[in-house]
Amino acid sequence: MVNKIIIANWKMHKSDKEAAELSKSVSDRANDMGVDVVLCPSSVSLKSVSENVKGKVKVGAQDIFYEDEGAFTGEISAVMIKDFAEYCMIGHSERRQYFNETDENVNKKIKKALEHGLIPIVCVGETLEEKDSGKSKEVVERMLKKGLEGIDITKVIVAYEPVWGLSTSGTGQVITTESIVDIHTDIKKFLKKEFDTETSLCYGGSVNPKNAQEILSLECVDGALVGGASLKVESFIEIVKITDSI
Ligand code: PGA
Repeated sequence: MVNKIIIANWKMHKSDKEAAELSKSVSDRANDMGVDVVLCPSSVSLKSVSENVKGKVKVGAQDIFYEDEGAFTGEISAVMIKDFAEYCMIGHSERRQYFNETDENVNKKIKKALEHGLIPIVCVGETLEEKDSGKSKEVVERMLKKGLEGIDITKVIVAYEPVWGLSTSGTGQVITTESIVDIHTDIKKFLKKEFDTETSLCYGGSVNPKNAQEILSLECVDGALVGGASLKVESFIEIVKITDSI
C-alpha cells in the first residue's frame, strides 16, 4: 500500500528561525512514521528547513516561475528551488486569486517543475460564487484539463481545495464528507477519461486534528494539504499520527 501524504502549507508565515525550529520539531517526531510528510515554507526558509528534516519528511516550495532564469524580478525558478526541495506547489487558489495565476501559467510551471525533477502538487478548486452557481465540477475540470495538458499525470499530485472551505475563507462553510467523496470520485473519473491513468488526489481545506480521522480514512483521499493547522507542531503532528494509524 502506498503511504498517505500530509503536506504543510505554511503560506506567508514564520521567520527563518521559526521555520527552522518548527521543521526540526516536526521531523524529530514524524520522520519514521508510515506517512509521507512535506513541509512547504516560504522560499527564504527552504534552505534552513531542508537542513532540519530527515527520513520521511521532505521539503516543498509554494510556487516557482516557468523560466529557468532571466529578467523576472522577484521570481524564483525550479533550478534555484531544486537544491533544497523535492516538491513544489503550483496553482494554489491564493496565487490564482491574488496574483493572476492562470491555467496556462500553471501548465508551464508544472512542465518546468517536472523538467527539473520536482514533484508538482497541483491545486484546483472552485470559489464560493462558482459553487453557488452550480459550476464546481465545470471549474475544477477546466483547471485539470488546461493545467495538466500534455503532462504525465502519474508524476504529479493533485490537491482539491475548495476556496470557500479554506480555514481563512471567512465563509463559515465546511465541506461534508459526502461532498468530498462526490467530488474526489468525479475528479478521479475525469482524470481517467482525459489522461487514461491515475494520480494521487489530496484534499485541502480546514483539515485539522478533529476532522482528520474522518477525511483521511476515505479511500478516495490519498492525503491532505494543511494550512492553518500546520503552523503549530502539536496540531500538525496530531494529523500525521492520525493518518499513520489509519
Ligand atoms: P487551511 O489551508 O488548512 O488553513 O484551510 C489549506 C490551504 O490553503 O492549502
